Amino acid sequence: MLCDGIERRRDIEMGIFRSTAGTLLALALAVAAAHAGAAEPVGPKLPPKVRGLLLQEMNAVLAASHEIQDAIIQGQDGVVAEKAQAIYDSFILDQQMTDEDRQALRAAVPEAFVKRDQAFHELTGRLAQAARDGDGARQRELFGDMIEACAACHARYATNRFPAFTAE
Ligand code: HEC
Repeated sequence: MLCDGIERRRDIEMGIFRSTAGTLLALALAVAAAHAGAAEPVGPKLPPKVRGLLLQEMNAVLAASHEIQDAIIQGQDGVVAEKAQAIYDSFILDQQMTDEDRQALRAAVPEAFVKRDQAFHELTGRLAQAARDGDGARQRELFGDMIEACAACHARYATNRFPAFTAE
């Protein structure tokens, strides 16, 4: 009887130990993943056409970022407004993706990636507005946030393309 009780209690304790250990392990892995900043690269999961459009968009965004930087340092608000608005309007993705492509993209990427993309686009919209308002200090601040958003997303979702981020 007594032994039964002890056995049972030990079983319960082991059960608690195991589930606590399991939870701690899951937590440790989640913390490690968050610390490393790496999630699975999304590019290779996309249908080739959608991936091609995303890369075209990225290169266009890079070119626009260069032009925005040039314009900011010269106080050319009109150019900043135009280029930031063009990124906001997603020149390529929005214009060349069919509804099916859009669905395929949504199915292949995690929700957190979509959120990052939306936050990035909101930033470019705010940058365009700051330029229309002629607010230079705000433009510089938002441009910094924008570059931060590029690098943060690449470090998390594009280490296949930018492996230097895995060393961080
Ligand atoms: C929400 C995530 C996200 C944001 C924000 C983002 N990118 Fe990217 N970018 C990616 C992904 C994912 C890839 C790699 C796609 C692949 O592997 O096919 C990529 C690839 C690229 C490439 C490589 C293109 C090529 O032809 O290989 C460039 C250049 C680039 N991004 C520029 C930028 C710039 C500049 C910004 C910010 C102004 C930016 N990206 C913001 C996700 C993002």
